[in-house]
Amino acid sequence: MKLNKYYDDLKDSYLFHTVAVKTAEYVKKNPDKRIIKLGIGDVTRPLPAACVEAMKNACDEQLTAGGFRGYGPYEGFDFLREAIAAYYARRKTRVGEHEIYVSDGAKSDIGNILDLFDRDNTVLVPDPVYPVYVDTNVMCGRKVIYAEADEKNGFLPMPDESISADLIYICSPNNPTGAAYTRKALGEWVKYAKEHNALILYDAAYEAFVTDGDLARSIYEIDGARECAIEFCSFSKNAGFTGERCGYCVLPDELTVNGKKLADMWLRRQSTRYNGTPYIIQRGAEAALTDEGQAQIKENLDYYKKNADMIGDCLDDLGIYYTGGVNSPYIWLKCPDNMGSWEFFDLLLNECQVVGTPGEGFGECGKGYFRLTSFNTHENTAEAAERIRARFGK
Ligand code: MLT
Repeated sequence: MKLNKYYDDLKDSYLFHTVAVKTAEYVKKNPDKRIIKLGIGDVTRPLPAACVEAMKNACDEQLTAGGFRGYGPYEGFDFLREAIAAYYARRKTRVGEHEIYVSDGAKSDIGNILDLFDRDNTVLVPDPVYPVYVDTNVMCGRKVIYAEADEKNGFLPMPDESISADLIYICSPNNPTGAAYTRKALGEWVKYAKEHNALILYDAAYEAFVTDGDLARSIYEIDGARECAIEFCSFSKNAGFTGERCGYCVLPDELTVNGKKLADMWLRRQSTRYNGTPYIIQRGAEAALTDEGQAQIKENLDYYKKNADMIGDCLDDLGIYYTGGVNSPYIWLKCPDNMGSWEFFDLLLNECQVVGTPGEGFGECGKGYFRLTSFNTHENTAEAAERIRARFGK
């Protein structure tokens, strides 16, 4: 038997696993210390009441012969696909319900979509970015090249003729930097993809955090994107479904490669390997898109925005450079005193008992940077800010 040799090319462990292990080791050695986690982007607000109510009703249905559901459709239930299409339509973005494929989350889809593509493709990944894009491609031996994001380009790399890539990842608002493309800038990427026969894999998991009007919330706001982009989205960061698991991707009708429709390949892949997101969860997701659900989600997002402001105020007071936290739940800061990002991670953990995510874990360009999330409670965020102020204040 031979093992997948490309696993040897991966880092030893997934970024957030390494952070969790280091944190657990510290807690074991220091049981009396109270840790505050501003690391992984997991939410803390309870689920929107509308979602819980819908899931309870869906549970009750399972007690009746008429309401019981077994396997659902591979593409997702029509009621949820219709609700998602309507969610786009309210933003004047055209997405057909038949083009939407429901899943257990954007992370799974982003990795699984790679089944459709030959290993012999070159992948362009922004650096820094969500490590799943790189790791899933390394696992199958695909060549990965990087578009460097830094303070000079506002952490928003743009296409240029030196790039030669078949698959292009874009995450906007970006995880980890919080930077988000305007429609105009995204238009440049769509133009590039069409001219070079490349496909954009667009991660819109954080679209609900966008407040600035000139920023795109979907790549399909851009003319021509339906011919060159797949969009991935999630109920995790808006409706708080990190534990419930529900997401979706959009494969427009126009998306064909050598006459083959990508949506047909995706359905073939999903129906072979996946039995669908639970009915109860899909009912919860549907409720997230109702007016009531959206109002409750807005309350939660406003709550997290207040946390981002608290962290931002703290960094302003300390004169520490940062970006993000406005159209994004993430604050991306420069480690003080020219510290390395893992060095800063250790210092924050040991001296402030605050857990963040080292920028280096998101790519080479993340060296010397650090990510904090706004997803904790007000109380914990305020206390973390106080501890950081006390440690770094002059
Ligand atoms: C993050 O912290 O970057 C995210 O929570 C990871 C994820 O969504 O899988």
